[in-house]
Amino acid sequence: MNELKKICTVNELKENSGKKFFVDDIEIALFKINGEIFAVSNICPHQKTHLIYEGFVENCKVICPVHGWEFDLRTGELAKGRKGLDIYEVKVIDVDVYVKAEQKELKWL
Ligand code: FES
Repeated sequence: MNELKKICTVNELKENSGKKFFVDDIEIALFKINGEIFAVSNICPHQKTHLIYEGFVENCKVICPVHGWEFDLRTGELAKGRKGLDIYEVKVIDVDVYVKAEQKELKWL
C-alpha cells in the first residue's frame, strides 16, 4: 500500500540542490527550492542513470548532469513539455518531510 513516509527533515536539504533517498525500493531525489520541497524520480529517462539528485537547479528545473536534459521539478516534464521524470506527493509536517512514492508505469518518450 502506498502511503506517506517520513524521509528526512527540512533542515537536511540544502536550497537549490538535490539529495537522494530510497522509499522502499523506489529511488527518489528531493529538492528544496525557496523552501518548497519537490520529489522526483532519481533515474533519468534518457539513459537510466541514477544521478538526477546531482543535477544543477535553475528556475525550478533540474538539469541532468550526464547530457543536460532539463526537467521541471513541479511537473517532471522535459522542458519542451514532453513526459520526463515521475513526480511524487510531498507533505511537510512541522520540520518533517513525508513522501508518497509509488511505482509508476514506464513512460515512453
Ligand atoms: S542520462 Fe540524463 S540526459 Fe542523458
